[in-house]
Amino acid sequence: MQPLKGLILSGGKGTRLRPITHTSAKQLVPVANKPVLFYAIEAMAQAGIDQVGIIIAPETGDEVRYAAGDGSRFGVRLTYILQEQPAGLAHAALTAEPFLGDSPFVMYLGDNLLQGGIEDLVVAFTEHEPDALILLTPVPDPENYGVAELSDGAVVHLVEKPSAPRTDLALVGVYMFTSCVHDAARAIEPSARGELEITDAIQRLVDDGRRVEPHIVKGWWKDTGRLDDMLAANRLVLDTIQTRLEGELIDTQLDGRVVIERGARLERSAVRGPAIIGAGARLTDCYVGPYTAVGEGCEISGAEVEHSILLAGSAVRDLGRMESSLLGRNVKVGRDRRQPRAYRFMVGDNSEIGIP
Ligand code: G1P
Repeated sequence: MQPLKGLILSGGKGTRLRPITHTSAKQLVPVANKPVLFYAIEAMAQAGIDQVGIIIAPETGDEVRYAAGDGSRFGVRLTYILQEQPAGLAHAALTAEPFLGDSPFVMYLGDNLLQGGIEDLVVAFTEHEPDALILLTPVPDPENYGVAELSDGAVVHLVEKPSAPRTDLALVGVYMFTSCVHDAARAIEPSARGELEITDAIQRLVDDGRRVEPHIVKGWWKDTGRLDDMLAANRLVLDTIQTRLEGELIDTQLDGRVVIERGARLERSAVRGPAIIGAGARLTDCYVGPYTAVGEGCEISGAEVEHSILLAGSAVRDLGRMESSLLGRNVKVGRDRRQPRAYRFMVGDNSEIGIP
């Protein structure tokens, strides 16, 4: 088999993560203070794939390009490929055809996180030489995913987001293909949501008698498309961190595994890990609880924050306890002492606020 190329999908509109995605690509939302997308690039590098194409959308492409650069810091060469319309995953593979040529490739959805990387899968793919290799995992809500049906260990039927799923085996957003997937993608019609679905292209391979090898994922997998999934991904990654203290601690107590990055300053506070406090953050008279990722330059004072993600530059001041929250960049949440006493908001489109 020729060397594999990589294709990471970092387009799409991210509607399920609005308002964050009004101003930023969903693939750049950080998990444990690192953009989700970077985990995919690192997985490619670890598996020895050095030519990686990244599909970008017109709205967020520049931001993605700026964040990931030429790939040299990951040890890969990145090529950016513009997909003008979010016309589906199979359409993205077709858009990348000039880059991919006739090479086999790994297609990785840039908002997916897969524990344990893809090295073993690349080995299985190159040794068994199927036409495609798909990853499956049982989920409680298969209607939200592509769903596969197996018979005697072979893939027989695939449906994209069925209303009445016949199995609970979801298609994980990491796929391995030989170049025959391009013809399959050309042969299918857009789905009800108007997209060329990769699920349908794989069904086409099955119908054409091609060999599609299923692999059941053993570790955890997360599609970070929704808030709860994002928080779950943050939990899973924070569970793997090791203590590292580079900031300044004054009268502050740390419990469990905590990362304090350069220039962060914690005063009269308590942090219970696993948690990460980003570079230059200021924490004063506060408590940060488990499974919290505080971004660069954030400020927390007189407040308790747990099980949350704060993007760079955000502030939480003089508040009770905030939990299970995702704050975008430069968001300010705090008590307002002006009269009359009232909630005062300035909130972007599609925001969600919960008040006890
Ligand atoms: C996409 C695929 C779906 C797959 C999922 C995995 O769904 O269409 O088959 O199960 O990714 O994350 P989307 O995120 O585009 O709704």
